[in-house]
Amino acid sequence: MNYFRYLASICFFLFLAGAVQTTVPAAVSLDRFLKPIKAQEPKPQPQEFFELASPLPSDHLTPFCSHTVINHSFANTIGSPPFSSTYSPPSDCPAPWSRVVLDFRAASSGEQYDRIAAIWLDGAEIFRTSTAEPTESGIFWKVRKDISRYYSLLSKPEINVTMMLENVVNDVYTGVYDILVSFLFYKEDIVPNDDRVPSITLPNKKLGTAELGLFKTPPDLIIPISSDGERGFWFKVESESDVHIKKVKIPRNTLQVVLELYVSFHGNDEFWYSNPPYSYIRMNNLTTGRGNGAYREVFVTIDGKFIGSEVVFPVVFTGGVNPLFWGPVVAIGDFNLPTYDLDLSPFLGWLLDGKSHEIRIGVDDAYHIGLSTQIYTSGWIMNLRRVKAKRKSEFAGWVKSKAGNFTTIVSQQFKVTNLVRYYFNGTYKIVQQIFKAKRDSRVREDSGELVGRTIVRRQYPLTVITSTVPLQSNGPSGSMEEDMYMMITNVSHAKNERRVNGLSSSILYNRQESEGWMKVKGHSVISGNSSTWQRYTYRDEFGCYSRTVLATEGKLAIDNSTFSCAAST
Ligand SMILES: *[C@@H]1O[C@H](CO)[C@@H](O)[C@H](O)[C@H]1NC(C)=O
Ligand SMILES: *[C@@H]1O[C@H](CO)[C@@H](O)[C@H](O)[C@H]1NC(C)=O
Ligand SMILES: *[C@@H]1O[C@H](CO)[C@@H](O)[C@H](O)[C@H]1NC(C)=O
Ligand SMILES: *[C@@H]1O[C@H](CO)[C@@H](O)[C@H](O)[C@H]1NC(C)=O
Ligand SMILES: *[C@@H]1O[C@H](CO)[C@@H](O)[C@H](O)[C@H]1NC(C)=O
Ligand SMILES: *[C@@H]1O[C@H](CO)[C@@H](O)[C@H](O)[C@H]1NC(C)=O
Ligand SMILES: *[C@@H]1O[C@H](CO)[C@@H](O)[C@H](O)[C@H]1NC(C)=O
Ligand SMILES: *[C@@H]1O[C@H](CO)[C@@H](O)[C@H](O)[C@H]1NC(C)=O
Repeated sequence: MNYFRYLASICFFLFLAGAVQTTVPAAVSLDRFLKPIKAQEPKPQPQEFFELASPLPSDHLTPFCSHTVINHSFANTIGSPPFSSTYSPPSDCPAPWSRVVLDFRAASSGEQYDRIAAIWLDGAEIFRTSTAEPTESGIFWKVRKDISRYYSLLSKPEINVTMMLENVVNDVYTGVYDILVSFLFYKEDIVPNDDRVPSITLPNKKLGTAELGLFKTPPDLIIPISSDGERGFWFKVESESDVHIKKVKIPRNTLQVVLELYVSFHGNDEFWYSNPPYSYIRMNNLTTGRGNGAYREVFVTIDGKFIGSEVVFPVVFTGGVNPLFWGPVVAIGDFNLPTYDLDLSPFLGWLLDGKSHEIRIGVDDAYHIGLSTQIYTSGWIMNLRRVKAKRKSEFAGWVKSKAGNFTTIVSQQFKVTNLVRYYFNGTYKIVQQIFKAKRDSRVREDSGELVGRTIVRRQYPLTVITSTVPLQSNGPSGSMEEDMYMMITNVSHAKNERRVNGLSSSILYNRQESEGWMKVKGHSVISGNSSTWQRYTYRDEFGCYSRTVLATEGKLAIDNSTFSCAAST
C-alpha cells in the first residue's frame, strides 16, 4: 500500500516509470494528462520546444570534433533492455580536451505521455531528461549539457554508452521518440569575461593555490552506484522499505570524494508535494494511491550511518497538472533534471581503510522520519494539512597525504514548509511549498588556512492551485459523466540558486508562472487555454544571460533575451 516510484542512481543515482493511476477523483489529486494532439493551424509544421537555460560558455567556440554516440528510436521499450552501443574516445581528436558537451536532440509525433530517460557511460549516469508530449504534426527539441566532469570515463576506450527511455507504443499511444546524441569535444580554453565578473563577495579572497573547490578539475575516478543495467542502470525505489545497497571500495590515495545524486519521482509520487496522508484518504473514502503525506527526502547511508540527504527539486513533467502549460516552453528541469552533489570528504578517514563499504540509498516519507502532519477538518468545507521539516548536520574529517593534511568540514541545513488546503469539498485545492537550503563545504590546511570553499544556497518556492468543476456530458441522456470535468489551474514555480565554488560564483533566478483551464475526459485534455510566463536570469564569471518568455495558447508571444549584465539584475 505504501507505494512510491522513483528512479535513482548514484555516482549516486535514483528512477522509475510505469502504469498510470486511473481511479483518482479529480478533485483530490494532481495528475498527469495527455494534451490534444491536433493542430489548430491549417498548415501544421513540427514545432520546437525548449527549456530556458543559459548558453554554455563553450557554445561560441567550434568543437574540435563531434561524435554521434546514439541514433535510435524509442518505441515500445517498456520492460526491454536499454539501448546500448560501444564508445571509445574519437580517434580524430584524442584527449586532452578542454571541455566535453553532450548534445541531445529529440523528435516525436503522435499521441504520447511525457516519459523519463537517462544516459549512462560505463554504468555511470551522465544525463537525466524527460520528454515533451508530442502532437500529430510533430515536435522537436535540443538540450546541451557540459559533461566535462565525466572526463575520466570519456577518455576510456571500449565502454558502453547506454540509454533508457521507457515508452509505451500501442494503438492508443503512437508517439515514438527519435533520439540523436552527440558528444562535442573542445580543445580551446574558455576565458572568463573579467569585465562581467559578478560582484559576489568571496568568503576568503586569498584562497590557497590548491583552490580545492569541488570539480575544479574533473575527478580521476568515477564509481557508479547503480543497478545491473538490465532495464537501465537506475534503481527503482518502489516503497519506503525498498532500499538499495551496493558495496564500494575507495582507493587509499583518495583526497576528495563527492557523491552525485540523480533522482526523479513518478507514479503515485509524481506530485508527492500534494499527497495526503493515508488517514485522510481513509477518512474521506478515497480510492487514490497517492498517499504517504507531502514530504520526501532521499537519503544516503554508508555502513548504516546517515551521511546526507536531499529534498529534491519538484520537477513538473510536461503532462503534469495542465499539459497545455508546458509548450513550447517546458517546466523547469524537464529537459535537464537537476543533480545534487554531496561532499563526502569528511568521511575519508573511515572510508580509506581498504575495506568495502555499504552504500545505501532510499526515500523517506513524513511518517518514517517521524514528522508530524496535522489535519484539520471542519465538516466537509475545508481541510488543511501542514508539514514542516528542518534538518541541520555538520561533518568534519581530515585526510593526510604528501600534499598535506586537509580537513574538510561540510555543513548542511534545510527547511521545508508544505501547506495543502482544500475548500468546497476538495474541489478547490491550494498546495504551497517553500524549500530553503544551504550546503557549505570548507577545506583547511594544517596551518588552518582555508584552501577551498563551496557554498550552495537554494530556494524552491512552489504554488499549485486547482479548481475542479464536474461537467455535463454531451451524451444523449445528458447525464453527468464522472470522468468529465473542467479544471482551472495556476502554477507558480521557481528555482533560485547561489553558488560559490573556489573563486568562481554564480547566481540563478528562474521563475515560471502559469495559468489556464482545461476540459478533461479521463486522462485526456479535450480543450483549454493557458499561458506561461518565465524569467530566467543567470550570472557567473563567464558573463550574464537573461531571457523572458510568454507562451499563450501553445505559441510564443514574447521572447526577449540579453547578455547584458545591467539588464539581467
Ligand atoms: C540517424 O539515423 C537515421 C536513420 O536511421 C539516418 O537517416 C541519419 O542520417 C542518422 N543520423 C546521424 C547523425 O547519424
Ligand atoms: C556492454 O554491454 C553488453 C550488453 O549490453 C555487455 O555484454 C558488455 O559486457 C558490456 N561491456 C562493458 C565493457 O561493460
Ligand atoms: C465512508 O464510508 C463509510 C462506509 O461506507 C461511511 O459510513 C462514511 O460516511 C463514509 N465517509 C464519508 C466522508 O463519505
Ligand atoms: C590533521 O589535522 C587534524 C586537524 O587539525 C588533526 O586533528 C590531525 O591530527 C592531523 N593529522 C595528522 C596525521 O597530522
Ligand atoms: C459538499 O458535499 C455535500 C455532500 O455531498 C453537499 O451536501 C454540499 O452541498 C457540498 N458542498 C459544496 C460547497 O459543494
Ligand atoms: C489564478 O491566478 C489568476 C491571476 O493571478 C487569478 O486571477 C485566478 O483567480 C487564479 N485562479 C485560481 C483557480 O485560483
Ligand atoms: C486564451 O488566453 C489568452 C490570454 O490569456 C487570450 O488572449 C485568448 O483570447 C484566449 N483564447 C481563447 C481561445 O480563449
Ligand atoms: C524586448 O524588450 C524590449 C525592452 O524591454 C522591448 O522594447 C521589446 O518590445 C521586447 N521585445 C519583445 C519581442 O517582447
